[in-house]
Amino acid sequence: MKKRIYIETYGCQMNVVDSEVIFSIMSKEGYERTANMDEADIILANTCSVRDNAEQRIWGRLEVFRKQKESRPGVIVGIVGCMAERLKDQLTKTGKVDLVAGPDTYRTIPDMVKEITPGNPAINVLLSREETYADIVPVRTDKNGVSAFISIMRGCNNVCSYCVVPYTRGAERSRNPETILAEARDVFSKGYKEVTLLGQNVDSYLWKDGERQVDFADLLEAVAMIDPSLRVRFATNHPKDISDKLIETMAAHRNICDHIHLPVQSGSDRMLEKMRRRYTRDWYMDRVRKIRKVLPGCGITTDVIAGFCSETEEDHQETLSLFREAGFDYAYMFCYSERPGTIAARNYPDDVPQEVKTRRLNEIIELQNQLSLESNRRDVGKVFEVLVEGPSKRNPEELCGRTGSDKMCVFPGLGHKAGDYVRVKVTDCTSATLLGTIVE
Ligand code: SAH
Ligand code: SF4
Ligand code: F3S
Repeated sequence: MKKRIYIETYGCQMNVVDSEVIFSIMSKEGYERTANMDEADIILANTCSVRDNAEQRIWGRLEVFRKQKESRPGVIVGIVGCMAERLKDQLTKTGKVDLVAGPDTYRTIPDMVKEITPGNPAINVLLSREETYADIVPVRTDKNGVSAFISIMRGCNNVCSYCVVPYTRGAERSRNPETILAEARDVFSKGYKEVTLLGQNVDSYLWKDGERQVDFADLLEAVAMIDPSLRVRFATNHPKDISDKLIETMAAHRNICDHIHLPVQSGSDRMLEKMRRRYTRDWYMDRVRKIRKVLPGCGITTDVIAGFCSETEEDHQETLSLFREAGFDYAYMFCYSERPGTIAARNYPDDVPQEVKTRRLNEIIELQNQLSLESNRRDVGKVFEVLVEGPSKRNPEELCGRTGSDKMCVFPGLGHKAGDYVRVKVTDCTSATLLGTIVE
């Protein structure tokens, strides 16, 4: 019987793709993917270290995996991804883990698995300057076959003072554009209608080949040219690097979705400086204005951190006022979590009390809910092209899908299925969803 591998994926979308890469590598070794941990020969957690609570969750999962090992001796339990890179042999020392593999070592997992003997775990956390898994065709694990993620680069060369990613993912490197295009063409030929190009800072994508240089706008355009019915998305942009050329490229192609995820982190210049984001509030707002001017109706979403080191009430008010000024459509909002080894952890005390962080976070969340509702209300009465993803989760009688601006839309289907494009007139909304009907 074929051996089986099971992977739980945590953290960002890059980890989703990395798990697909691991499935691909292991399938060449004869392993079959399973979604049922109880029948797996190898159980992996692909982990995230970005905040402490992400790691705490994994420690909890390790208890569950340990029970699997107890009831089925011989089962291999592994930690891969960012937490593997950060904690290295601290994980194997627990006695609960047989395999520890950092993000750039997935090609070596088959050999590592062969090395493991009881009491002798295998570990590889070498970071690479070249690895992009460019030649590996990920085994798609999405459920509906409509939308695929494609990794275009790895690592990060920014050193935002709070962030662990440069340490867990290593130096930035771009993937050969030919392999990205081949992967996008391949998923399109298999019926996918949407690709999302992924990198920690897509604006610094750069491929040099002799005289020829391909930047992110060039790459995006080339992917968009594959077919007008292939929607193209991307994440994440960096406010300091997002170029006019990119914004204009988006305007020039109908199938490049009008959505930009532009993490601001704080509205206070003092905090931005301390975070080493290398832009000011004015610079950020200038980018927002440029986007709104060239791409009216473009969705703008953001990330923000509440309670970074020494943040005062005034700094916090600046974040709230920036949110109002920018009028974000959606935001991912977090309390600052100190990460060992980062510039902030080494230099600045984590001195905002937890209850103050939480209170400030809640104020941001409350404001953003209001802004999301206002943004959605502005769309009532408009017609959008929506890519059907499948039945709505709340009401399986209805369908759901996203607008180009990345808003979730729910509407009664007229015999439509996942992968169809429909035109939806928005008739109502909540702060999270547009509600509408299909029009012709
Ligand atoms: N490359 C992206 C984001 C990567 S991490 C960028 O540059 O914006 C995703 C988000 O997690 C970040 O945007 C930030 O808001 C949040 N984050 C990162 N480190 C954090 C920390 N130590 N505490 C709380 N939130 C953090
Ligand atoms: Fe982290 Fe900054 Fe790199 Fe984003 S750009 S991954 S926040 S260091
Ligand atoms: Fe987390 Fe690593 Fe992604 S720390 S956010 S899984 S790059």
